[in-house]
Amino acid sequence: MTGPREAKKPPGLFFAFEGLDGSGKSTQAKLLAESLESRFNEKPLLLREPTLGPIGQSLREKLFGGSGEVSPENELSLFMMDRDWDVFANILPGLSSGQNVIIDRYVLSTVAYQGARGFMDPKEILRLNDKYPKPNLTFILDLGPEAALGRIKARGPLVTNYENLDFLVKVKGIYDSFDGPDILHVDAQSDPNSIHGQISRAADDLIRGRERTIQNP
Ligand code: TYD
Repeated sequence: MTGPREAKKPPGLFFAFEGLDGSGKSTQAKLLAESLESRFNEKPLLLREPTLGPIGQSLREKLFGGSGEVSPENELSLFMMDRDWDVFANILPGLSSGQNVIIDRYVLSTVAYQGARGFMDPKEILRLNDKYPKPNLTFILDLGPEAALGRIKARGPLVTNYENLDFLVKVKGIYDSFDGPDILHVDAQSDPNSIHGQISRAADDLIRGRERTIQNP
């Protein structure tokens, strides 16, 4: 028997993918979305930041379109405004309707990349993001800066100022400092299927844990 209380779905789970460009995070985010959909029969909401929304688009033009240098402060503001839009337009509505949400780059990208610009302490950037929903689990795809740069160069001409070794060393150093029960570092040099296996096992554990809590609150 289902009553009105049981009719409301619990909030969805929130998974974030992080890592240097070339680490394979976009591929792994898509693989997780496909495997959750096939195994749990529910399509997760797959998002990315910078977003495809109005602020994300203008951010891409500024960063990748060669329209001139953006100061580090303005760059941080643009990423934060884009996130604000994403949280209220996409992430919160998705989670509160019970949909699982998978995002390709989120708060830790801002902490690592804008933190590596050196004008604000990464911890301070993390604090600025305290107001946004926390992922239940963040996968950090660990790849050395030299290997990342090699993969980026193999894709074609370099498109952002971020794609230089000194900067990527700093970004990687900040990513390496993240730790905790909601962070899973994964070796991005392993074979993509075994990476996917590790990620989907960790996601399954969370989903099944949540189902147990719902059944035995
Ligand atoms: P990327 O994931 O490469 O986007 P796409 O694959 O759609 O082009 O992100 C573009 C760049 O933006 C990447 O080099 C990291 C950077 N970035 C930041 O510097 N701060 C942020 O908060 C985010 C979300 C991304």
